[in-house]
Amino acid sequence: MDIRWPLSDGRVTIRPFCVGDAEALLEYRRLPECQEYTSHTVATIDEARALLSERVARPEVIMGALMIDGQVVGDIGGRRYRPETLGPDPHGWDFYLGYTVRPDRWGQGIASSAVALLTPALHHQAGIRRVVAKVFARNAASVRVLLKNGFQLEGTERAAVLGRDGTWLDDCTLAHLDPRLAVTD
Ligand SMILES: CC(C)(COP(=O)(O)OP(=O)(O)OC[C@H]1O[C@@H](n2cnc3c(N)ncnc32)[C@H](O)[C@@H]1OP(=O)(O)O)[C@@H](O)C(=O)NCCC(=O)NCCS
Repeated sequence: MDIRWPLSDGRVTIRPFCVGDAEALLEYRRLPECQEYTSHTVATIDEARALLSERVARPEVIMGALMIDGQVVGDIGGRRYRPETLGPDPHGWDFYLGYTVRPDRWGQGIASSAVALLTPALHHQAGIRRVVAKVFARNAASVRVLLKNGFQLEGTERAAVLGRDGTWLDDCTLAHLDPRLAVTD
């Protein structure tokens, strides 16, 4: 996708992952705190390599490494897809966004910075109309990160997904629209 890497605010830098980052990814993605609300989990170095190889090879996918002082502290990315249409060819793309930060760096504003960096680049460089995040209502930190960055809650599917702990989770959809997008009722 057409993003001019790296993106940086002077503290957090986002650059594309490469397969050589597999160990750094595994170090935090294998932790239970990072797996509670995600469906794609990695438990071994082979799985981490396979995940990165697969994502790096797909042009519609972004897998960005969050870097601070040369260390991988998390990831942000997702995949673009064509908007739904009732007939005409839709111009542009929509994008599913996701991110994870190493638990020992939680609460330092890293996810907030990453979303603040990537969202405008998706709209203005990669032609994304809607940046969409699916977040479980119980994941309050993630909902907060998105609301702080101008995403709006569009709806909540109640008791929609069975969680790892066996409870049913409410699934929220939040989205950020390209400010240039003309929306009609
Ligand atoms: C969600 C996650 C990415 C947040 O990363 P982070 O770098 O700690 O986030 P930030 O520090 O930028 O912001 C967290 C915000 O949530 C708030 N927060 C944290 N825990 C909270 C809670 N239990 N209830 C309400 N707000 C909470 C913080 O106060 C902060 O808001 P503030 O800046 O207004 O004070 C991180 O917890 C994570 O990786 N979780 C596991 C993976 C995951 O759930 N990813 C999202 C899938 S959609």
